[in-house]
Amino acid sequence: MDLFRKTALVTGGATGLGFEIASLLLEKGMIVWICGRSRPSLLSAQSKLSSPYVFIQQCDISNPAQVAEMKKQIGHVDVLINNAGVWCDLPLEDTSIDQISQTVQVNLLGTIYVSQAFFSSMKTKGEGIIANISSALGVHTRKHVSVYSASKFGVRGFTESLRDELKGTGIRVFGWYPGGMKTGLFEHAGQGRDMTGYIDAKDMAKLFVSMLEVPQEMTIETCVAGRTE
Ligand SMILES: NC(=O)c1ccc[n+]([C@@H]2O[C@H](COP(=O)([O-])OP(=O)(O)OC[C@H]3O[C@@H](n4cnc5c(N)ncnc54)[C@H](OP(=O)(O)O)[C@@H]3O)[C@@H](O)[C@H]2O)c1
Repeated sequence: MDLFRKTALVTGGATGLGFEIASLLLEKGMIVWICGRSRPSLLSAQSKLSSPYVFIQQCDISNPAQVAEMKKQIGHVDVLINNAGVWCDLPLEDTSIDQISQTVQVNLLGTIYVSQAFFSSMKTKGEGIIANISSALGVHTRKHVSVYSASKFGVRGFTESLRDELKGTGIRVFGWYPGGMKTGLFEHAGQGRDMTGYIDAKDMAKLFVSMLEVPQEMTIETCVAGRTE
Protein backbone atom coordinates (compact mmCIF):
# COMPACT_ATOMS: atom_id res chain seq x y z
CA MET A 1 0.00 0.00 0.00
CA ASP A 2 1.16 3.53 -0.71
CA LEU A 3 1.17 4.84 2.87
CA PHE A 4 1.44 8.57 2.10
CA ARG A 5 -1.39 10.55 3.80
CA LYS A 6 -3.22 7.35 4.73
CA THR A 7 -4.33 6.89 8.33
CA ALA A 8 -3.00 4.27 10.74
CA LEU A 9 -3.91 3.22 14.26
CA VAL A 10 -1.13 1.61 16.29
CA THR A 11 -2.43 0.13 19.54
CA GLY A 12 0.16 0.33 22.29
CA GLY A 13 1.97 2.89 20.15
CA ALA A 14 3.37 4.96 23.02
CA THR A 15 6.23 2.58 23.85
CA GLY A 16 8.48 -0.18 22.53
CA LEU A 17 7.79 -1.71 19.13
CA GLY A 18 4.57 0.28 18.65
CA PHE A 19 6.40 3.58 19.18
CA GLU A 20 9.09 2.64 16.62
CA ILE A 21 6.41 1.61 14.11
CA ALA A 22 4.49 4.87 14.69
CA SER A 23 7.69 6.85 14.18
CA LEU A 24 8.44 5.14 10.84
CA LEU A 25 4.85 5.51 9.64
CA LEU A 26 5.07 9.26 10.29
CA GLU A 27 8.29 9.33 8.23
CA LYS A 28 6.30 7.69 5.41
CA GLY A 29 3.82 10.59 5.55
CA MET A 30 1.02 8.77 7.36
CA ILE A 31 -1.48 10.25 9.79
CA VAL A 32 -0.92 8.15 12.90
CA TRP A 33 -3.12 7.51 15.90
CA ILE A 34 -1.57 5.80 18.90
CA CYS A 35 -3.58 4.39 21.78
CA GLY A 36 -2.85 3.00 25.21
CA ARG A 37 -4.13 3.13 28.77
CA SER A 38 -1.67 5.66 30.20
CA ARG A 39 -2.33 9.28 29.22
CA PRO A 40 1.08 10.54 30.48
CA SER A 41 2.79 7.88 28.37
CA LEU A 42 0.75 8.88 25.29
CA LEU A 43 1.52 12.58 25.82
CA SER A 44 5.22 11.84 26.23
CA ALA A 45 5.26 9.75 23.03
CA GLN A 46 3.36 12.46 21.13
CA SER A 47 5.92 15.02 22.22
CA LYS A 48 8.86 12.74 21.26
CA LEU A 49 7.30 11.97 17.86
CA SER A 50 6.94 15.71 17.41
CA SER A 51 4.71 15.71 14.32
CA PRO A 52 1.45 17.50 13.51
CA TYR A 53 0.24 14.16 12.11
CA VAL A 54 0.33 12.13 15.35
CA PHE A 55 -2.82 11.90 17.48
CA ILE A 56 -3.43 10.14 20.77
CA GLN A 57 -6.41 8.26 22.15
CA GLN A 58 -6.58 6.87 25.65
CA CYS A 59 -8.19 3.43 25.43
CA ASP A 60 -8.03 0.12 27.24
CA ILE A 61 -8.47 -2.29 24.34
CA SER A 62 -9.74 -5.02 26.66
CA ASN A 63 -12.83 -2.87 27.32
CA PRO A 64 -15.31 -3.07 24.38
CA ALA A 65 -17.06 0.19 25.38
CA GLN A 66 -13.73 2.07 25.28
CA VAL A 67 -12.92 0.47 21.91
CA ALA A 68 -16.31 1.63 20.54
CA GLU A 69 -15.60 5.16 21.84
CA MET A 70 -12.14 5.09 20.21
CA LYS A 71 -13.70 4.11 16.88
CA LYS A 72 -16.13 7.02 17.23
CA GLN A 73 -13.26 9.45 17.90
CA ILE A 74 -10.94 8.19 15.13
CA GLY A 75 -13.33 7.10 12.38
CA HIS A 76 -11.82 5.30 9.38
CA VAL A 77 -8.28 3.95 9.37
CA ASP A 78 -6.51 2.45 6.35
CA VAL A 79 -4.00 0.47 8.40
CA LEU A 80 -4.73 -1.11 11.77
CA ILE A 81 -1.77 -2.40 13.74
CA ASN A 82 -2.82 -4.54 16.66
CA ASN A 83 0.36 -4.23 18.70
CA ALA A 84 -0.74 -3.65 22.32
CA GLY A 85 0.12 -6.54 24.58
CA VAL A 86 1.18 -7.66 28.03
CA TRP A 87 3.71 -10.25 29.17
CA CYS A 88 3.26 -13.19 31.52
CA ASP A 89 6.11 -15.66 32.23
CA LEU A 90 5.24 -17.80 35.24
CA PRO A 91 4.55 -21.44 36.07
CA LEU A 92 0.79 -21.88 35.83
CA GLU A 93 0.48 -22.66 39.53
CA ASP A 94 2.01 -19.26 40.37
CA THR A 95 -0.15 -17.29 37.92
CA SER A 96 -3.04 -15.38 39.50
CA ILE A 97 -6.53 -15.30 38.03
CA ASP A 98 -6.01 -11.56 37.40
CA GLN A 99 -2.81 -12.24 35.42
CA ILE A 100 -4.55 -14.94 33.39
CA SER A 101 -7.55 -12.80 32.56
CA GLN A 102 -5.50 -9.66 31.82
CA THR A 103 -3.16 -11.53 29.46
CA VAL A 104 -5.98 -13.12 27.50
CA GLN A 105 -8.20 -10.04 27.60
CA VAL A 106 -5.53 -7.66 26.28
CA ASN A 107 -3.55 -9.86 23.89
CA LEU A 108 -6.38 -11.86 22.38
CA LEU A 109 -9.74 -10.24 23.11
CA GLY A 110 -8.37 -6.70 22.68
CA THR A 111 -7.03 -7.62 19.23
CA ILE A 112 -10.41 -9.05 18.28
CA TYR A 113 -12.43 -6.09 19.64
CA VAL A 114 -10.29 -3.49 17.84
CA SER A 115 -10.29 -5.46 14.57
CA GLN A 116 -14.07 -5.84 14.66
CA ALA A 117 -14.56 -2.14 15.39
CA PHE A 118 -12.34 -0.94 12.51
CA PHE A 119 -12.62 -3.40 9.62
CA SER A 120 -16.10 -2.58 8.33
CA SER A 121 -15.14 0.87 7.01
CA MET A 122 -12.11 -0.74 5.29
CA LYS A 123 -14.56 -3.13 3.65
CA THR A 124 -16.67 -0.24 2.40
CA LYS A 125 -13.55 1.43 0.98
CA GLY A 126 -12.36 -1.85 -0.56
CA GLU A 127 -8.85 -1.45 0.79
CA GLY A 128 -7.07 -1.83 4.12
CA ILE A 129 -4.49 -3.65 6.17
CA ILE A 130 -4.92 -5.33 9.52
CA ALA A 131 -1.54 -6.38 10.94
CA ASN A 132 -1.59 -8.39 14.13
CA ILE A 133 1.54 -8.57 16.30
CA SER A 134 1.55 -11.98 17.91
CA SER A 135 4.89 -13.46 18.99
CA ALA A 136 7.29 -16.26 18.14
CA LEU A 137 5.65 -17.76 21.25
CA GLY A 138 2.43 -17.75 19.19
CA VAL A 139 4.07 -20.31 16.87
CA HIS A 140 6.44 -22.37 19.06
CA THR A 141 6.30 -22.41 22.81
CA ARG A 142 8.28 -23.34 25.92
CA LYS A 143 7.58 -23.89 29.60
CA HIS A 144 6.26 -21.14 31.91
CA VAL A 145 4.57 -19.12 29.18
CA SER A 146 1.39 -21.19 28.88
CA VAL A 147 -0.97 -18.25 29.38
CA TYR A 148 0.99 -15.81 27.18
CA SER A 149 1.39 -18.46 24.48
CA ALA A 150 -2.31 -19.34 24.67
CA SER A 151 -3.17 -15.69 24.05
CA LYS A 152 -0.67 -15.37 21.17
CA PHE A 153 -1.60 -18.71 19.54
CA GLY A 154 -5.16 -17.36 19.76
CA VAL A 155 -4.09 -14.23 17.85
CA ARG A 156 -2.64 -16.52 15.17
CA GLY A 157 -5.89 -18.47 14.79
CA PHE A 158 -7.88 -15.23 14.68
CA THR A 159 -5.52 -13.75 12.08
CA GLU A 160 -5.58 -16.77 9.77
CA SER A 161 -9.35 -17.20 9.85
CA LEU A 162 -10.02 -13.46 9.40
CA ARG A 163 -7.63 -13.44 6.41
CA ASP A 164 -9.78 -16.10 4.75
CA GLU A 165 -12.99 -14.29 5.69
CA LEU A 166 -11.77 -11.04 4.13
CA LYS A 167 -10.34 -12.50 0.91
CA GLY A 168 -11.72 -10.57 -2.06
CA THR A 169 -12.63 -7.49 0.01
CA GLY A 170 -9.34 -5.64 -0.59
CA ILE A 171 -8.39 -5.98 3.08
CA ARG A 172 -5.11 -7.77 3.70
CA VAL A 173 -4.48 -9.44 7.04
CA PHE A 174 -0.90 -9.98 8.19
CA GLY A 175 0.40 -11.99 11.12
CA TRP A 176 3.70 -10.91 12.67
CA TYR A 177 5.55 -13.23 15.04
CA PRO A 178 8.62 -11.53 16.52
CA GLY A 179 11.19 -13.04 18.85
CA GLY A 180 12.70 -11.26 21.89
CA MET A 181 13.12 -7.49 21.49
CA LYS A 182 14.70 -4.90 23.77
CA THR A 183 11.55 -3.19 25.06
CA GLY A 184 9.89 -2.52 28.41
CA LEU A 185 7.45 -5.43 27.94
CA PHE A 186 9.00 -7.59 30.67
CA GLU A 187 9.61 -4.71 33.09
CA HIS A 188 6.02 -3.51 32.65
CA ALA A 189 4.87 -6.94 33.88
CA GLY A 190 7.23 -6.75 36.86
CA GLN A 191 9.31 -9.51 35.23
CA GLY A 192 12.46 -7.67 34.08
CA ARG A 193 15.18 -9.79 32.47
CA ASP A 194 18.60 -9.68 30.84
CA MET A 195 17.92 -8.67 27.23
CA THR A 196 21.47 -9.21 25.92
CA GLY A 197 21.23 -10.43 22.33
CA TYR A 198 17.62 -9.30 21.93
CA ILE A 199 16.63 -7.48 18.76
CA ASP A 200 16.42 -3.69 18.65
CA ALA A 201 12.72 -2.75 18.30
CA LYS A 202 13.67 -0.16 15.65
CA ASP A 203 15.17 -2.89 13.42
CA MET A 204 12.04 -5.00 13.84
CA ALA A 205 9.86 -1.97 13.06
CA LYS A 206 11.76 -1.33 9.78
CA LEU A 207 11.11 -4.88 8.60
CA PHE A 208 7.49 -4.65 9.70
CA VAL A 209 6.81 -1.37 7.88
CA SER A 210 8.39 -2.70 4.67
CA MET A 211 5.73 -5.45 4.76
CA LEU A 212 2.96 -2.84 4.79
CA GLU A 213 4.36 -1.31 1.60
CA VAL A 214 4.30 -4.42 -0.58
CA PRO A 215 2.04 -3.94 -3.63
CA GLN A 216 -1.59 -5.08 -3.39
CA GLU A 217 -0.96 -8.07 -5.68
CA MET A 218 1.77 -9.34 -3.34
CA THR A 219 1.32 -10.67 0.14
CA ILE A 220 3.47 -11.58 3.12
CA GLU A 221 0.85 -13.26 5.23
CA THR A 222 2.98 -14.61 8.05
CA CYS A 223 6.41 -13.44 9.22
CA VAL A 224 8.33 -15.04 12.06
CA ALA A 225 11.33 -12.77 12.75
CA GLY A 226 13.62 -13.90 15.51
CA ARG A 227 17.19 -13.53 16.66
CA THR A 228 19.97 -15.81 15.51
CA GLU A 229 20.94 -18.37 18.15
N1 LIG B 1 9.42 -7.39 23.51
C1 LIG B 1 9.44 -8.62 23.05
O1 LIG B 1 10.40 -9.39 23.25
C2 LIG B 1 8.26 -9.15 22.26
C3 LIG B 1 8.42 -10.36 21.56
C4 LIG B 1 7.33 -10.85 20.82
C5 LIG B 1 6.15 -10.14 20.76
N2 LIG B 1 6.03 -8.96 21.45
C6 LIG B 1 4.75 -8.25 21.36
O2 LIG B 1 4.99 -6.97 20.82
C7 LIG B 1 3.94 -6.09 21.23
C8 LIG B 1 4.54 -4.78 21.71
O3 LIG B 1 5.20 -5.01 22.95
P1 LIG B 1 6.56 -4.27 23.36
O4 LIG B 1 7.59 -5.29 23.42
O5 LIG B 1 6.75 -3.06 22.53
O6 LIG B 1 6.25 -3.89 24.89
P2 LIG B 1 5.67 -2.56 25.57
O7 LIG B 1 6.63 -1.44 25.43
O8 LIG B 1 5.27 -2.97 26.96
O9 LIG B 1 4.38 -2.21 24.71
C9 LIG B 1 3.11 -2.66 25.00
C10 LIG B 1 2.14 -1.51 24.78
O10 LIG B 1 0.80 -2.02 24.91
C11 LIG B 1 0.04 -1.08 25.64
N3 LIG B 1 -1.04 -1.76 26.33
C12 LIG B 1 -0.94 -2.75 27.26
N4 LIG B 1 -2.16 -3.10 27.69
C13 LIG B 1 -3.04 -2.34 27.01
C14 LIG B 1 -4.45 -2.22 27.02
N5 LIG B 1 -5.22 -2.97 27.83
N6 LIG B 1 -5.05 -1.33 26.19
C15 LIG B 1 -4.29 -0.56 25.38
N7 LIG B 1 -2.95 -0.61 25.32
C16 LIG B 1 -2.34 -1.49 26.14
C17 LIG B 1 1.03 -0.44 26.63
O11 LIG B 1 0.60 0.87 27.01
P3 LIG B 1 -0.22 1.14 28.39
O12 LIG B 1 0.45 0.32 29.45
O13 LIG B 1 -0.13 2.60 28.60
O14 LIG B 1 -1.61 0.68 28.12
C18 LIG B 1 2.30 -0.39 25.80
O15 LIG B 1 2.41 0.85 25.13
C19 LIG B 1 3.14 -6.86 22.29
O16 LIG B 1 1.98 -7.41 21.70
C20 LIG B 1 4.09 -7.98 22.69
O17 LIG B 1 3.38 -9.12 23.18
C21 LIG B 1 7.06 -8.44 22.17
